[in-house]
Amino acid sequence: MPHGVGAHFYPELDSTNAFAQALTCQGERGPIWIAAGQQVAGKARQGRNWVSKPGNLYCSLLFAPQIAPADIAPLPFIVSLAVRDTFIALGVNPDVAQCKWPNDVLLHEKKASGILIESSASGNSIDYLIVGIGMNLAHYPDDAIFKATSFTEVASKQVDVRVALAILAEKLKGRLDAWRLGDFEPIRAEWLSCAWGFGNKRLIRTATETFTGTLVDLNSQGAVNVILDDGTEKTIYVADIFPSCA
Ligand code: BTN
Repeated sequence: MPHGVGAHFYPELDSTNAFAQALTCQGERGPIWIAAGQQVAGKARQGRNWVSKPGNLYCSLLFAPQIAPADIAPLPFIVSLAVRDTFIALGVNPDVAQCKWPNDVLLHEKKASGILIESSASGNSIDYLIVGIGMNLAHYPDDAIFKATSFTEVASKQVDVRVALAILAEKLKGRLDAWRLGDFEPIRAEWLSCAWGFGNKRLIRTATETFTGTLVDLNSQGAVNVILDDGTEKTIYVADIFPSCA
């Protein structure tokens, strides 16, 4: 693990994010990684469940950067790039590893990782951040809302979860250390260079509506600008995106 960063690996937890959150109640602010061999109540975005059987990586980084809540927009993109770096370091061809808005990583256009970032702020400062990451190393759910895959299926080899965690921790630390607050542009440009779905018509599902549109850009807040079929522009802040024939 990176120098100065703690790590604990538990055979089973309800959720590594929930465990990290419980640690904050005891005053823990990290940086510390919490990982579990399996989760019995893994959490996904928008209140969904993250199926967490043994063999995949389930981990959360708890840390407390000295930043304002308004500064965290680049974080999901930084984390996605670090997860993509990790798959590549493990042997995946970079050409098939893509970032999908808001913070998934795809291999061969199928979901191989999900990220759930939770934060607590008081006033104008972040109290703590919990970056939860699930990486499909050995297996994947076959009933996911977006088609899924695993590292083993793509790379035809196996990887130890602790090896993957050590690489992920180094990659994420490197990217967090390089993050210059207030300068989203280099992160945005790199993320867009390996992003899935831009320039093409996609199906977009928000909490209240489903429509098709072309993803055209990522704005400075990390939201997506979309051109609808009737030519009007829309900015998407929270949604799931699918191939347009989904
Ligand atoms: C998503 O794609 O909706 C995000 C999934 C995030 C899953 C990870 S697994 C480790 C960490 N602990 C959790 O309970 N969730 C995240």
